[in-house]
Amino acid sequence: MKPKRIHNFNAGPAALPQSVLEEIQENFLDFNGSGMSITEVSHRSKWFDDVINDAITRVKRLLKLDDRYHVLFMQGGASLQFCMLPMNFLHGGRTADYVNTGTWSTKAIKEAQIQGKTIQVVASSEDRNFAYIPKDIQFTAGAAYAHITSNNTIKGTQWADFPETGGIPLIADMSSDIFSRPFDINPFGLLYAGAQKNMGPAGVCLVVVRDDMLALVPDDLPTMLKYTTYSNKNSMFNTPPCFAIYTVQLVLKWLEETIGGLDKMAALNRQKADMLYGLIDRSEFYNGTADPDSRSLMNVTFRLPNESLEQQFVAQAIEHDMGGLKGHRSVGGCRASIYNPTPLSGVEALVDFMRTFEQQNG
Ligand SMILES: Cc1ncc(COP(=O)(O)O)c(C=O)c1O
Repeated sequence: MKPKRIHNFNAGPAALPQSVLEEIQENFLDFNGSGMSITEVSHRSKWFDDVINDAITRVKRLLKLDDRYHVLFMQGGASLQFCMLPMNFLHGGRTADYVNTGTWSTKAIKEAQIQGKTIQVVASSEDRNFAYIPKDIQFTAGAAYAHITSNNTIKGTQWADFPETGGIPLIADMSSDIFSRPFDINPFGLLYAGAQKNMGPAGVCLVVVRDDMLALVPDDLPTMLKYTTYSNKNSMFNTPPCFAIYTVQLVLKWLEETIGGLDKMAALNRQKADMLYGLIDRSEFYNGTADPDSRSLMNVTFRLPNESLEQQFVAQAIEHDMGGLKGHRSVGGCRASIYNPTPLSGVEALVDFMRTFEQQNG
């Protein structure tokens, strides 16, 4: 019997390309002629070496990385990065700049503060419940890095262009928009992304880090909390999350070979987001929560006229095989997460459903 699949608008863990799931299923019992599943082969085997090295090569190609950049696969999610950044890079009185654009930036800031590190919050959109991305930011000369959250999963905002930092290495939490569009890597000292939104399952976090940042890592940190441990050992100082890395590898292959790279992905993502925002803008029933110039192409956040209608909307959507439309518990409302793997047909189905729901309840 054909398995039932729904339109999945979850914020993360989130939808994966159906073809990737099928490839995993097909190869599951006998991975590449090994007679073992990928969850059973040694991480020191040629089979896994091929997987991780191919994943690294694809990240380098997709992000156009030169030799200064290292691709790492780590555990602990994006949340461990919040703690490792100040731990690795803020020493000898050095400070860092942070831009606060929502829940995840706030958590990153807190992790620096609880270590007693000095940081400056150089801009924030908290005054209007994080509905926008701040502009014209003055960064602090000499700061070790400037930290931003490139896409704010909960508030539904995204940096359309990255800020000019005057040479201070930019660090971005790209958990919810990595590989969704091309960008210039050169201003970045480091970027990181939990895999479970645009790139794979939970359990692995991609880190891209530049040589000059690695040079700042002190010797006297616990081994597993130093970036250099991962860069020196091809992310295999200890047992890596093999299955998650394998899935990431397949998603990156899909991105390159089926979609055709980041330009094509970006065009598709724009088309999907325009369909939803177009409907919201033409309607008096649905209200977008983010300022139009700060809107996320990944997480479309909106409200209905009241909470009871929002509950009905989410419940009826599930009856129509559309899941994950409830807004984050901290903000309420509704949210459609339309990451890379969400097909256009899924967004078309959602737009149809939203039109009908408005006609019946507007
Ligand atoms: C932008 C962003 N940063 C960080 C996190 C936390 O990531 P993790 O659960 O991998 O620690 C999330 C979501 O879960 C997120 O959306």
